[in-house]
Amino acid sequence: MTSNKALSGIRILDMTHVQAGPTSSQLMGFLGADVIKVESPRGDATRGQLRDIPDADSLYFTMLNCNKRAMTLNLKNPEGKKIFTKLVETCDVVMENFGPGVLDRLGFSWEEVHKINPRIVMASIKGFGNEGPYAAFKAYENVAQSMGGSLSTTGLFDGPPVATGAQIGDSGTGVHLMAGILAALIQRERTGKGQYVECAMMDCVMNLCRVKWRDHQRLERGPLPEYSNQEFADFTPRAGNDSGGGQLGNAIQCKPGGPNDYLYVVVQEHVWNALAEKVGGEALVNDERFVNINVRRKNQNDMWQILTDYASNHTKRELMAILNEIDIPCGPIMDTKDLANDEHVKLREMYIELDHPERGKWYNLGCPIKLSDSPVEIVRSPTLGEHNDEILGEVLGYGDDEIAGFKDAGAFSLPAKK
Ligand SMILES: CC(C)(COP(=O)(O)OP(=O)(O)OC[C@H]1O[C@@H](n2cnc3c(N)ncnc32)[C@H](O)[C@@H]1OP(=O)(O)O)[C@@H](O)C(=O)NCCC(=O)NCCS
Repeated sequence: MTSNKALSGIRILDMTHVQAGPTSSQLMGFLGADVIKVESPRGDATRGQLRDIPDADSLYFTMLNCNKRAMTLNLKNPEGKKIFTKLVETCDVVMENFGPGVLDRLGFSWEEVHKINPRIVMASIKGFGNEGPYAAFKAYENVAQSMGGSLSTTGLFDGPPVATGAQIGDSGTGVHLMAGILAALIQRERTGKGQYVECAMMDCVMNLCRVKWRDHQRLERGPLPEYSNQEFADFTPRAGNDSGGGQLGNAIQCKPGGPNDYLYVVVQEHVWNALAEKVGGEALVNDERFVNINVRRKNQNDMWQILTDYASNHTKRELMAILNEIDIPCGPIMDTKDLANDEHVKLREMYIELDHPERGKWYNLGCPIKLSDSPVEIVRSPTLGEHNDEILGEVLGYGDDEIAGFKDAGAFSLPAKK
């Protein structure tokens, strides 16, 4: 796992759980870091959540915890704390996404961790960061999407707020965290000192909604012409499938009219004539409602209707082929089944078959970051405590007697229930 990869030699003490943190440490593992996941003897709650096979680690867990070694440790036990302290001494990064105050209660605040190992980078995800009126609140994906502005800007103009399927609060924050960790590791090269990296899910969702803030400020100067909405207030509205960029775009329904029989089409300014010629001949090319982007914006709902009428004779793939020929940016709405069987996805190694001792064959998504000199090899997620002995012995150098002593003292036993 750690031969010659981009992050070979970087050891991560991974205390993350659920989705936001594990997605980040899994990416670090894909890139070659030695990720040691430390779990309470109860295990990451997701091991048992949404189980599809009795007694096997759930896909929720396996899909977020590949390329990691796993050990259990009772951090509420004095001997467990002793082992943890030694892990902090040997690691380059410690990652966590516990609820507010949890690490302080365990006695491992950033100040304490930094004292133990001044070179270590400590990376935390919190719902709302460590300070401010919301700091004490826990958060999950849709809470972060709600409070970071995503729900209010997703959905149809006259419908309720809608959560996006992309996990921008959890996985999105995890990707941000990885960027912060890598930057801190590079700075450490110069200073020899670790630092604290903190990402709040609310901040990361706001960052991912950045263009909605562009629109929020533009509203001060009047309606947003690229939106198909007819009315505007003083906040960025929901805008259905409108493109949200400088070019007009929308999802066009195709034959035979199933739930995902749509092609997303972007009508770039310079492709309009070719598109109009194809769809409606000279009459459409010369139609005054659409002759330039300004009038096309005003009359976009008519334009989408004309394209929809044309599309009703074609499947999304047929229409894609027609539009690709005239260089129009477009893409079919792909559902998970389409993607699971897609040749391009296979070629890009984005849906990989793996084996697992408890669940047999299963699939994980691949690594979307492709490095020419650091090929990714995906290794199945570990079972609970699978690498306890290996880490206690090989990494920390404890002998059998010491390990037995820790065990007798309760270092690996379940902490008392809350
Ligand atoms: C996700 C979240 C809501 C879950 O809340 P939760 O299930 O109550 O879990 P918490 O993280 O608050 O608490 C974990 C508890 O397990 C304990 N624990 C964790 N690892 C342990 C270990 N190895 N040994 C002993 N105890 C352990 C902690 O000490 C804590 O106990 P305490 O409350 O008595 O101090 C919360 O962790 C959170 O808000 N995280 C930050 C935001 C985030 O990442 N959310 C997205 C998740 S996808």
